[in-house]
Amino acid sequence: MQVPFLDLKSPHIRLKDEILKHVGDALSGAQFIGGENVSGFESEFAAFCGSPHAIAVNSGTDALRFAFIAAGIKPGDVVITVPNTFIATTEAVSQVGAEIAFTDTDEKSHQMDPVRLGETVLKLKKQNRRVRAVVPVHLFGHCADMDPIFEIAKKHDLLVIEDACQAHGAVYKGGKKAGAMATVGCYSFYPGKNLGACGEGGAVVTSDADMDRTVRMLRDHGQSKKYIHEIEGYNGRLDAIQAAILRIKLKHLGEWNAARRKNAKLYDSLFEGVRGVTVVNEPSWSTSVYHLYVIKVADRDTVQKKLGDKGVATALHYPIPLHLQEAYKGLGYKKGDFPVSEKQAEEILSLPMFPELTEEQIRYVADSVKECVA
Ligand SMILES: Cc1ncc(COP(=O)(O)O)c(C=O)c1O
Repeated sequence: MQVPFLDLKSPHIRLKDEILKHVGDALSGAQFIGGENVSGFESEFAAFCGSPHAIAVNSGTDALRFAFIAAGIKPGDVVITVPNTFIATTEAVSQVGAEIAFTDTDEKSHQMDPVRLGETVLKLKKQNRRVRAVVPVHLFGHCADMDPIFEIAKKHDLLVIEDACQAHGAVYKGGKKAGAMATVGCYSFYPGKNLGACGEGGAVVTSDADMDRTVRMLRDHGQSKKYIHEIEGYNGRLDAIQAAILRIKLKHLGEWNAARRKNAKLYDSLFEGVRGVTVVNEPSWSTSVYHLYVIKVADRDTVQKKLGDKGVATALHYPIPLHLQEAYKGLGYKKGDFPVSEKQAEEILSLPMFPELTEEQIRYVADSVKECVA
């Protein structure tokens, strides 16, 4: 049996007629930038997140960059995040001229460890660094543990900016959604995300009207009105055709997330008590949306290779923690600085996860994993 890591074809085949109709309407109306589909998607996505404002932008990276600028993060400010995220989180920090600092993750949840965050803040402050913000990343579709993170942020007067690029719809402690807990949250609609465009896309979600206004200007060359540039901005708008497609897909996001959860629960039950396989479980504080289903195994590279031979596609999120990447050599970190993230990077393995996975496929993947670790 062949089990793909991701199936981007099935949902598009199913929604093809509806998508083509909306793309056709957009072509006939020649509304390519802005317009009803963009504003419609923004209000529908804001409602989905439970937040008053959503601003559609060109990518998750733009969303992060615009959120940092709108939050007032300046050159010389220090922004703390985790080393086990996608590099976009930290690229956006550097691109606003701020300094990146890492803090280690929690052994069990793989999310930002609030205790270590507190220690990191104190250490940086002792070095007279200007710590301004913390970016929890809701990794794998699980929520980061936000209550203690907010407490630390309050104590040290730090801004909290959520990277919810992997967690559309995840719920924290039965209340708010990932990305809508802090004043500002950022999402990606990269095609493989739980809500993915047929191209690039992203959104900033905020409860703050001023931030909403600033991000709207930033994505559109700093314009408050046509050719009235209050600030310098960027070309960071979401295409109207992508917005039309995202509106169609958003209607299915709840059902798709539920299917991911159901698939994850079946995997969980099949791995229960299996020696040599540790599941990165849903944390107690999170109702997760399983952007990824991650396990940990010893001798991971061999297991991954053997699974490939059995037709099971897998991936690594992420094989090298950011502090050890060539791009960040200049930050002065070394191996051993974030031992938890480093160990996790050696053991993690992301298994096939998408809404359309069948029970037969999941059982085959689980059986294959068991054989490979035996
Ligand atoms: C955690 C995280 N942050 C940021 C991004 C960046 O999003 P995009 O690829 O839409 O720029 C991604 C997506 O790849 C991500 O997974």
